[in-house]
Amino acid sequence: MKINKICCIGAGYVGGPTMAVIADKNPDIKVTVVDLNHQRIEDWNDEDLTKLPVFEPGLDEVVGRARGKNLFFSTEVEQAIDEAEMIFISVNTPTKTYGKGKDMAADLKYVELCARQIARVATNDKIVVEKSTLPVRTAEAIKTILYNTGNDVNFQILSNPEFLAEGTAITDLENADRVLIGGEQTKKGQEAINALVNIYAAWLPKDRILTTNVWSSELSKLTANAFLAQRVSSINAISELCEATGANVNEVSKAIGMDSRIGPKFLQASVGFGGSCFQKDILNLVYISKSLGLDSVADYWEQVIIMNDHQKNRFAEKIVSTLFNTVSGKKIAFLGWAFKKDTNDTRESAAIYVADKLIDEQANISVYDPKVKKKQMYSDLDYLKTRSSEKNHEHLKVANDPYEVCKGAHAVAILTEWDEFLELDWEKIYQSMNKPAFVFDGRMLLNAKTMKDIGYKYYVIGSE
Ligand code: UDX
Ligand code: UDX
Repeated sequence: MKINKICCIGAGYVGGPTMAVIADKNPDIKVTVVDLNHQRIEDWNDEDLTKLPVFEPGLDEVVGRARGKNLFFSTEVEQAIDEAEMIFISVNTPTKTYGKGKDMAADLKYVELCARQIARVATNDKIVVEKSTLPVRTAEAIKTILYNTGNDVNFQILSNPEFLAEGTAITDLENADRVLIGGEQTKKGQEAINALVNIYAAWLPKDRILTTNVWSSELSKLTANAFLAQRVSSINAISELCEATGANVNEVSKAIGMDSRIGPKFLQASVGFGGSCFQKDILNLVYISKSLGLDSVADYWEQVIIMNDHQKNRFAEKIVSTLFNTVSGKKIAFLGWAFKKDTNDTRESAAIYVADKLIDEQANISVYDPKVKKKQMYSDLDYLKTRSSEKNHEHLKVANDPYEVCKGAHAVAILTEWDEFLELDWEKIYQSMNKPAFVFDGRMLLNAKTMKDIGYKYYVIGSE
């Protein structure tokens, strides 16, 4: 089966870059990305490629090559669904904030809405691809909706989880370790799987395209993220032990990472992992396990989150205790707000939680991040509902200039490992700060000796 037209519902961090690469590599397929959010679509269509709604190194070039040729961004959802033979669902699946499974289960309402819309609009056979990360067995639910409200149309559901990491999305897509495609183990299911395999085979060797049953595919996504997050929590647990014993977590990481059975990646201690996936996917795993009565399994994975919360808290507490047990009325400069470098995404970023804790202690925070908008920072803090929006505005200020942010501060906290922070004139910053001038490096970014030589009281995660 040859696919000529693809539709993707959801023009977010996953849908946008993924479809841009698919279109770029398959010039004979028309790819239309749709979204309910008009502003988002307008931004994707902006003439000025620096204004795309998602910041990702290399994305502007890919979009520049394909947009208007075979890549389109549109709000005409129904038309795009109708004409496509293959429809990706790439809408967000946040953690539920209400009702049963609150703070743990995935909220599938957007996915369900998409399924209902597809069912309503479709007049010919479709392959529906789950791109959103979903709890195991969601494909089954989608199938039930499609078959019971549809127009006698034949649907095949595939699971095709995304493994791209933000900040490296384009290289991750262009040079994926593997692509995973789960489908029904029937003749029709196999045809659908092959149709999607061929799209990826346009640029990836076939042996990197793995096919499985639907549930293995869904569960593999959750498991991959749980394992990655677990490594970060494991090394973060060791970072606290290092601080207490005089060991150095970088040395420990290097030493264990050289064991080829362990490997060097995802062993960087930090102020805590963030991002839209790790926490949400583990919570999902925990929720599913609990629902199945597998309490020990649930507790095991939940510990990864508990450790991560501890790491964020510990960083905030370290700032307070070091600044003579009070930050009330003191200016604390934050360098970085994004959950990691090279992205403007802030979902679950450690910076939000550290700021929230420090504002509880009445600190005045001043933030600089090269890519995150001011509005986003306030909305992140307000989302926690710890205090009124006015209070958040009172205690958190944002500036476009790192020197301005650090001026007169009692302490600088590094929350995101942006490369440009390495290039700052740290001598000049030192001169402009209150003394003693403290730096709390949550990303092990700077050189300890250089900082101490300048005169800073320098604290870094994972060493004395
Ligand atoms: C994705 C996945 O879908 C999610 O499951 C995964 O775990 C993380 O990555 P992401 O692309 O990061 O989500 O989400 P987001 O950037 O919020 O994009 C989702 C888009 O879908 C938004 O632009 C939203 O407007 C759109 N949307 C949502 C619709 O078009 N229709 C809806 O019904 C709901
Ligand atoms: C993750 C997965 O890597 C990706 O495969 C999946 O599709 C989506 O979720 P992402 O959340 O974009 O990607 O970023 P990732 O690079 O995994 O980083 C997540 C968090 O862990 C960041 O806050 C990062 O700073 C932190 N991290 C990562 C560490 O603290 N130490 C490390 O060694 C690695």
